[in-house]
Amino acid sequence: MSDPLATPLTAMLGCRLPVIQTAMGWVAEPVLVAATVEAGGFGFLGAAVMSPVEAGAKIAEVRRRTARPFGVNFHMFQPGAAELVDIVIANREQVRAVSFGRGPDAKMIARFRDAGICCVPTVGALKHARKMAELGVDMLVVQGGEGGGHTGSVATTVLLPQVLDTVDLPVVAAGGFADGRGLAAALAWGAAGIAMGTRFLMTRESPVPALVKQAYLGAGTDDILVTDQVDGMPQRMIRNAALARIDGRGPIGSWMAALSAGFATKRATGASWPELLKMAQGMRSHGGLSLSQAMRAAAAPALIQRAVVGGDAQGGLMATGQVAGRIEDLPSVAELLEVIERDARARIALLTAAPSRQRKLA
Ligand SMILES: Cc1cc2nc3c(=O)[nH]c(=O)nc-3n(C[C@H](O)[C@H](O)[C@H](O)COP(=O)(O)O)c2cc1C
Repeated sequence: MSDPLATPLTAMLGCRLPVIQTAMGWVAEPVLVAATVEAGGFGFLGAAVMSPVEAGAKIAEVRRRTARPFGVNFHMFQPGAAELVDIVIANREQVRAVSFGRGPDAKMIARFRDAGICCVPTVGALKHARKMAELGVDMLVVQGGEGGGHTGSVATTVLLPQVLDTVDLPVVAAGGFADGRGLAAALAWGAAGIAMGTRFLMTRESPVPALVKQAYLGAGTDDILVTDQVDGMPQRMIRNAALARIDGRGPIGSWMAALSAGFATKRATGASWPELLKMAQGMRSHGGLSLSQAMRAAAAPALIQRAVVGGDAQGGLMATGQVAGRIEDLPSVAELLEVIERDARARIALLTAAPSRQRKLA
């Protein structure tokens, strides 16, 4: 019998398990990415918050830690995006895929394809899935509203079959996955695997400071909410003091926040003011945001950095998927993937067993 965990995802990305560790700014760092690919999954380096020089150094670090293929995440509006794309292509013998939300055009996608690099964007709505398929991407990650970071409003259980019925591409399920049960369910839907952010954030190799990992562990599903007050786009966060402050501010407060966020992003990325404005304008035209929202959007990652790098669980923002509300441990990546594989195989075997045996095992 063929291996149920060998899918178009494993074939395309060159990994053993159909499990993707998604990009997360300041979290999907070389140690996490290397641990994921070494344990059989496929990891994306979170380069959307990095300068080209930093991204080049971190790609080199992943390559020092592992010889296995991995991916890089970026977006076209970040400072130095064109240079970053050149760096990714120069590393094509090991960078097997790129992921992005706000995306490159058909020309850029063709450039990656010519270099043998798969384009695997994340989409959160059916119309975006259609658009990406038309642009010629290789595979789609479909993220339901349960997912972490910026997120849509349609739940995975509705969006995933909708996209599967619409596009003729391998589709990977994201948003709310954490275990082998979820992997088996995604495969049953017809997906090529699962992609997880929050579950990988809550592992030993994730660089998030211990105090903040404890805040993620302590959050119940009721402590996790969606707000558009951070940058004008719906984003899932753990309720804390920083989020309460942001939710309570008026228009002047929003502008002050946009300016101070701009300063913070300048410091973090080394971008000039013209570059920062270009980034904000890009987001504005792409997402239909006001300039104040776009400035905050360009700079919001700095507020997340305060928590996930600085360790400030009250003053920083903790982006998360809803699934953090049911995660209660911090395994190593190898332990996590081992349990996911074992449980998924057991579930699939159970579902395909004769009915009398199913009753006995259930
Ligand atoms: C802390 C955090 C940071 C994130 N940063 C990024 C990012 O830089 N780029 C990106 O494309 N997605 C980002 N995301 C979204 C994830 O890559 C992924 O799509 C999402 O977490 C999947 O949902 P899950 O958390 O339920 O697994 C982030 C998510 C979290 C929780």
